[in-house]
Amino acid sequence: AIMLEPVQGEGGINIAGDDYLKGIRRLCDENDLLLILDEIQCGMGRTGKLFSYEHYGIEPDIMTLAKSLGGGFPIGCMITKDRIASYFSPGNHASTFGGNPLACSAACAALEAVLEEKLIENAAQVGNYFIEKLKGLQKKYSFIKSVRGKGLMIGMELEFEGKNIVTKCQEKGILINCTVDKVLRFIPPLIVTKDEVDRVITTLDEVFKNV
Ligand SMILES: Cc1ncc(COP(=O)(O)O)c(C=O)c1O
Repeated sequence: AIMLEPVQGEGGINIAGDDYLKGIRRLCDENDLLLILDEIQCGMGRTGKLFSYEHYGIEPDIMTLAKSLGGGFPIGCMITKDRIASYFSPGNHASTFGGNPLACSAACAALEAVLEEKLIENAAQVGNYFIEKLKGLQKKYSFIKSVRGKGLMIGMELEFEGKNIVTKCQEKGILINCTVDKVLRFIPPLIVTKDEVDRVITTLDEVFKNV
C-alpha cells in the first residue's frame, strides 16, 4: 500500500500536486496496491471540499479521519470500500473505545453541522480571502518565502524560525502555530469570518513590523 496526506499538516502545509496524486493512483492501480489517504487534518471540509482528495479527481481505497470528525469530541476512524471492508469482520479491527456510541453521535452531529451550515463553502471562500491577504503581507516583507494553502489549511514559510512570531501573536490574543520550525500554520475553525481574518492579518503586520 501507499499511504500519504494529500495536504501535509505537520510536514509544513505541503500540497500534493495534481499530477503527483493522479500518478500515485495510477501506480497503485498498475501494481495492485492500495492507496491510503490520511485526511485526519485535511478532511471534513478544511480544504474547501469535504475530503481533500476531491480536488484531484481520484479516490482512495482507504481513508483515515479524526480530529474535526467529532467536532472536538475524540474519535478516529478508517473508511474503506466494500471490496476491502469484506476482509474485515467485527472484532478484527478492535479498539478499547472503538465504536463508542457517544463519540459516533458527536461525529454524526458534527458532519450534519458542516454540511447544513455550509462550512465547506465558508472554508473555500474565507480560505481564499485569507491566502490573498497573507500574500499581501508577503509583498511587504521579503522574509516571507512562500504562502501556500487550500481552503482553511494555510502555511506561511519564513526565512527564520517562527516560534517568536507565535509567542508575539499569542500576547496580542491570536493563537497561531508553527510547524517544521519555519512554517506558520493557520488552521482556524471552519466558522471563521473575513473580519476575524482581518484581525489576524493586522496583528501579523504589527508583529512583522518589529522583526
Ligand atoms: C495527519 C495526521 N494523521 C494522523 C494523526 C494521528 O491522529 P490520532 O491522534 O487521532 O491517532 C495526526 C495527529 O496529529 C495527524 O495530524
